[in-house]
Amino acid sequence: MGNKTILVTGGAGFIGSHTTVVLLEQGFDVVIFDNLFNSKASVIDRIERITARRPSFVQGDIRDRDALARVFESFPIDAVVHFAGLKAVGESVEKPLLYYENNIGGSLNLYEAMGAAGVKRLIFSSSATVYGESNPTPYFEDFPLSCTNPYGWTKLMNERILRDLCAADPAWSAALLRYFNPGGAHRSGLIGEDPAGIPNNLLPYAAKVAAGRLEKIHIYGDDYDTADGTGVRDYIHITDLARGHVLALDYIEGRPGAAAINLGTGKGTSVRQIIAAFEKACGKKLPAVVDPRRAGDLPQTYANADLAKKLLGFETNFGIEDICADIWRWQQFALTLDS
Ligand code: NAD
Ligand code: UD1
Repeated sequence: MGNKTILVTGGAGFIGSHTTVVLLEQGFDVVIFDNLFNSKASVIDRIERITARRPSFVQGDIRDRDALARVFESFPIDAVVHFAGLKAVGESVEKPLLYYENNIGGSLNLYEAMGAAGVKRLIFSSSATVYGESNPTPYFEDFPLSCTNPYGWTKLMNERILRDLCAADPAWSAALLRYFNPGGAHRSGLIGEDPAGIPNNLLPYAAKVAAGRLEKIHIYGDDYDTADGTGVRDYIHITDLARGHVLALDYIEGRPGAAAINLGTGKGTSVRQIIAAFEKACGKKLPAVVDPRRAGDLPQTYANADLAKKLLGFETNFGIEDICADIWRWQQFALTLDS
């Protein structure tokens, strides 16, 4: 691998920045294309501090066809890792057109610009949300797919579009990576997840409680049919997830078609287990109350991780203790960025 130039859309964001670090460490050149809607330009400096290599950065929007065309003219792009998108489930229900415009319209522009430039290798950020509400766990890639909100549909529609594109033109190859619950931060503590406002997701919420920025954790239901009654998810460390993308880039080389692959650990962890791991990481008790179930939540979701191992040779190296310790290290650094 290495010596190739990878365009990383949304590369200033949470998953994109960690993937850029792994790409640079493995010798790839990286061009980040991001509108900074949900990220900060300073992440580029911090990526350079970690890797001693600086990615190229273009501030631009995937809804802007001309800006995309200029990127392909300006850099010798070999493949694209496509993270740019909006990801708040609740907001997608309130503003569906914004989500379809950004995540579908923007992605269509990207695929068109790629085709025009003859760049036909793509890694797409999909989500376990495409497994819908009716499948048993663990989730296998060939399960029937459905969604319950516009955000999820944008993922499923992108999968469909890419399958059709790959079927129409055998020069295309794509990996549709279905992420379970990414968490953690780079071990250096210099980059991590930095959501604006009150986080919707458990891990960043717990981090803000640990930092004294929010009062208590709200456990959404303890009457599920799970071992301790709280919701169970498959939490995957961001550095493992990032590495999965680099393995997928290698995999799609010379393999026409679109392959859907889960990126998870194959193990479920409950809300109470996460709280305990976080308390261990930060060395203090975290106040928590039990609230009613959150609408739309499933009792448990976790991956069957066999296909990623078989096709990509992918296995995770980190567990929830690493995830919580690394978030806590990053959270303390992130506080200094805010001030
Ligand atoms: P993020 O918000 O941290 O990163 C997304 C980046 O894309 C941001 O830097 C944002 O500024 C940029 N962006 C958004 N719209 C853009 C546009 N129109 N043009 C250019 N840049 C744009 O999110 P993340 O957690 O890193 O997620 C990355 C991708 O992975 C998203 O597509 C998301 O839906 C998907 N995903 C995330 C999760 C998760 O739990 N984090 C789970 C499954 C799938
Ligand atoms: C959420 C998204 C999902 C997305 C995923 C990415 C929703 C409804 N779903 O999934 O589409 O792909 O993030 O990571 O937003 N919980 C609490 N208290 C909290 C927050 C969450 O108890 O403050 C519980 C939830 O009920 C769930 C678990 O913690 O059992 C994880 O929740 P969360 O981090 O929001 O992730 P998901 O619901 O899996």
